[in-house]
Amino acid sequence: MEDPEHPEGMNDSFFERELPGLVPGVCVKNLVKVFEPSGRPAVDRLNITFYENQITAFLGHNGAGKTTTLSILTGLLPPTSGTVLIGGKDIETNLDVVRQSLGMCPQHNILFHHLTVAEHILFYAQLKGRSWEEAQLEMEAMLEDTGLHHKRNEEAQDLSGGMQRKLSVAIAFVGDSKVVVLDEPTSGVDPYSRRSIWDLLLKYRSGRTIIMSTHHMDEADLLGDRIAIISQGRLYCSGTPLFLKNCFGTGFYLTLVRKMKNIQSQRGGCEVRVCLGKEPSLGSVGLLFWI
Ligand SMILES: Nc1ncnc2c1ncn2[C@@H]1O[C@H](COP(=O)(O)OP(=O)(O)O)[C@@H](O)[C@H]1O
Ligand SMILES: [Mg+2]
Repeated sequence: MEDPEHPEGMNDSFFERELPGLVPGVCVKNLVKVFEPSGRPAVDRLNITFYENQITAFLGHNGAGKTTTLSILTGLLPPTSGTVLIGGKDIETNLDVVRQSLGMCPQHNILFHHLTVAEHILFYAQLKGRSWEEAQLEMEAMLEDTGLHHKRNEEAQDLSGGMQRKLSVAIAFVGDSKVVVLDEPTSGVDPYSRRSIWDLLLKYRSGRTIIMSTHHMDEADLLGDRIAIISQGRLYCSGTPLFLKNCFGTGFYLTLVRKMKNIQSQRGGCEVRVCLGKEPSLGSVGLLFWI
C-alpha cells in the first residue's frame, strides 16, 4: 500500500508497505458505497491496491462488504464516491475498454442450464472478441487445464455443484482476462473441487491480477500472495500472510504424544497425552486419553 489513507482508528502498522517493483493492476481510492435508505456505508472509504502476478485474498465475514466492493470493481454497481483504476484507466469513464480484459466469477453461479461446458467457454470467448477458430483453440486448452474435458458435452444443469463452480471460475479466465475478480469461488463446494479450484488459480496467476474474496482463513493463507481483511466496509489490515501472522499471530502448539501400543496385547487401548501451549511440550503435562 503506497498511500493508505486509512480512516480514523486504523493502525498504520497493520498495513505492509509494498516492495518497489510491483505493478499495480487495480487501484481503489476512497471508495464509498451507501445503499439508500440504510445510511450505513456498505463500503467505507476503502483504499487498496491489487498487484499484477499476485492473488490478493479479500478476507471478511458475511456482510463485510466484499461482494459490494467487487461489484463496483466490475461495474455492476456504481460507487457512491471514490475512484477505481484498472490498468490505469478509470472505470467510470472507460468501462467498455476495461471490460475487454476483465473476468468475473460472481458469488452465485450464473450459467445457462441447457448450454454444455464446451458451449459456455466458446460463448464467453466469442463475447470477449475471439474468432470462432480462436475460441475453439481456447476452449480445448481450458478444458484440459480445468480438468473439465470429460464433462465437455454435459449441460450445466447436470453438473455437480463443484463442477458448476469450476466452470464459473474457468469462464472468468476466458479471453485471456488480465484482471480476474472471483467472489467466493470455493463457497459451497466439496473439498476435492475446492482443491482443484485452488490449483487452477495458482496455475493462472502469472501475468494476471487476481482478486479473490473468501471467508476461509486457510484459503487466504494458502493462495494469497497478499491478504486484505475487510470488516464493516473498512479495510483493517493488508499484507503478506507472514506479515499478518507477525502482526496478529500469537500461535499455540498442540503436542500429541502417543505411547506405542503393545501389539501382543489384544486388550486395552493406547495412551495419548495432549498438551496445548505457547511452546512445544516434551514433558508429561496435559490431558491423558485412552483410545
Ligand atoms: N442491494 C443491496 N441493498 C441494500 N443493502 C445491501 C445490498 N447489497 C448489500 N447490502 C448490504 O451491504 C452490506 C455488505 O454486503 P456484501 O457486500 O454482500 O457483504 P459480503 O459479500 O462481505 O458478505 C451488508 O450489510 C448488506 O446487507
Ligand atoms: Mg458476498
